[in-house]
Amino acid sequence: MQTRPLGSTGERLFPLGFGCMGLVGWYGTRDDAEARATLLQAIDRGVNHLDTASSYQLGENERFVGATIRDRRNGVFLASKYGITRTPDGTLVIDNRPASLRTAVAQSLERLGTDRIDLYYLHRIDRTVPIEESVGALADLLREGKIRYIGLSECSVETLRRACAVHPIAALQNEYSLWTRDPEAGLLPVCRELGVTLVAYSPLGRGFLAGNFRRLEDLPPGDSRRSMPRFHDANAAHNARIAEGVRELAMRKGCTPAQLALAWVLAQGDDILPIPGMKTRAHLDDNLGALRVALSQTERDGLRALVDEIGVRGERYPAAMQRALGG
Ligand SMILES: NC(=O)c1ccc[n+]([C@@H]2O[C@H](COP(=O)([O-])OP(=O)(O)OC[C@H]3O[C@@H](n4cnc5c(N)ncnc54)[C@H](OP(=O)(O)O)[C@@H]3O)[C@@H](O)[C@H]2O)c1
Repeated sequence: MQTRPLGSTGERLFPLGFGCMGLVGWYGTRDDAEARATLLQAIDRGVNHLDTASSYQLGENERFVGATIRDRRNGVFLASKYGITRTPDGTLVIDNRPASLRTAVAQSLERLGTDRIDLYYLHRIDRTVPIEESVGALADLLREGKIRYIGLSECSVETLRRACAVHPIAALQNEYSLWTRDPEAGLLPVCRELGVTLVAYSPLGRGFLAGNFRRLEDLPPGDSRRSMPRFHDANAAHNARIAEGVRELAMRKGCTPAQLALAWVLAQGDDILPIPGMKTRAHLDDNLGALRVALSQTERDGLRALVDEIGVRGERYPAAMQRALGG
């Protein structure tokens, strides 16, 4: 079985992880039976790295994942996160206070029905708490056996360096895909210097690069992508040219657009672990096929050039979430 290393931990994981965020909400419509079957089939096929978070559907996602893998826990590398919460009126709060982290880990363990979380991330960085304190608190939880490795998500280079000085950081989880290559500008080289794996989230551009939808109206009411500027009317119409280009190149290559988008991320290095989100067995099968798509340097460069020539329009997140990046 192909595997990739997780930072300097000695762990080796299947090259494709499983992003669980959309399994029971967030994107599209919900089908719990199919979502459960997809997750179990993924594990059967060797996908062992599952990614969830306490904020996903206010804990319901962790409960769903925990219940689904109850009899398979030992074959799974389970990642979760804390740091994004909301007040009752819906205001976004970033919280990395040590006491909150301790409570959050206890709650995630309970919801996941497990005695340890393999990889625990600060979901966003709380600029009011020194990173040394929050990573120090996670290191205490690690010594107590509640978590096994520590990760960060969407932080700055400086925060990553300071965190690594307190305790080894196994993974940085950032958005990374053909149309979101921001980590290349600073974080990815520093990850390589420090021996930190880049866990690439939204590697399919939230389904856009797979050609799933072209316009806001294609998304059902309540779909979270409706709030994201890249998918708003004029931006989506412009960005659709990128999805169309990916589709054409995929046809020429004899693969699907999703496979091409994932193969591109996989080809950026063995120290990158993409975690596509999928809630149907058809998408799972399709995505596993990306492992058989080998891209030449010319093809990789061609995909970069396609995106660069068209240019991506629109921020990744609504304003409050966008401001929470890079802490
Ligand atoms: N750290 C963070 O702040 C953060 C932020 C966002 C996401 N994440 C993590 O990253 C994971 C993945 O990101 P994501 O779910 O946002 O985006 P993604 O993986 O780029 O895209 C998911 C979307 O693509 C669709 N899709 C999957 N495979 C497909 C295929 N073969 N053909 C066509 N469409 C396909 C899915 O549809 P179906 O669902 O219908 O299968 C879903 O709508 C999340 O689940 C979460 O664990 C982390």
